[in-house]
Amino acid sequence: MSEPAAIFTAEALAGGGTGPLYLRLKSLIRGAIDKGALTAQDALPSEREIASQLDISRVTVRKALTELVDEGVLTQKRGSGTYVTGQGQRVEQRLSRLTSFTEDMLARGLMPSVKWLQKTVASPSPDEAMVLALSPNERVIRLRRLRMADGRPMALELAVVPARMLASPDAVGSSLYEALQTAGIRPVRAMQRLSAESLSAEDAEALSVPAGSPALYIERISYLADGRAVEFTKSHYRGDAYDFVVELTTSGETE
Ligand code: GLP
Repeated sequence: MSEPAAIFTAEALAGGGTGPLYLRLKSLIRGAIDKGALTAQDALPSEREIASQLDISRVTVRKALTELVDEGVLTQKRGSGTYVTGQGQRVEQRLSRLTSFTEDMLARGLMPSVKWLQKTVASPSPDEAMVLALSPNERVIRLRRLRMADGRPMALELAVVPARMLASPDAVGSSLYEALQTAGIRPVRAMQRLSAESLSAEDAEALSVPAGSPALYIERISYLADGRAVEFTKSHYRGDAYDFVVELTTSGETE
């Protein structure tokens, strides 16, 4: 193979046509794979390197890479980078992935932001204590946020994490999953329940929609590899702003 960095040139990007930059970058990468310049398991340069070599923004690079990951062409390994997907990995990448709000929005080319409503250590409610399997007197970190994409309110979210798992509520910056990853406890599995709800007057106001507007209510309980629950999160997504897409496969294809 050629050196992966040599593939990312301005000339090659120009060869990808005249459409949006991220689509041109996707076709550059696909083309390199088709031509054999990149083969299974090859590591791509970092987002930052690709962006600076092509003189485009990191957001554009991330959008292209995330879409190729979603399409199963590339695989992202936490902490070690992006690789060309090998045979046999492809289907797994297409199954529902356990992603964060921040990652979901960046994948759509939107810039996530947060307005903090609550960031405290508190006693759990009985259902939180049960779901998170807390010992008596254990405390939780309670994170309530308005989540926005390109400045537009998208979701109200209350995430509850056992207090022993993070040094303090301030360990969480704009992304909970980033903080969990830094602490070495990013969840690997989750149960998610979705239902339709009408927004209360208070929640509707925070989300800038009329009271009673439809919302997608999502409850997620996430677990570590050892089976411990790490988060219990309740989110209300604006019904007019969020689509939840799931790819379905027959069981045979997942083997
Ligand atoms: C989604 C999930 C939540 C999760 C959050 C983490 O919104 N529904 O359960 O806590 O992502 O997102 P971030 O890492 O951006 O804070």
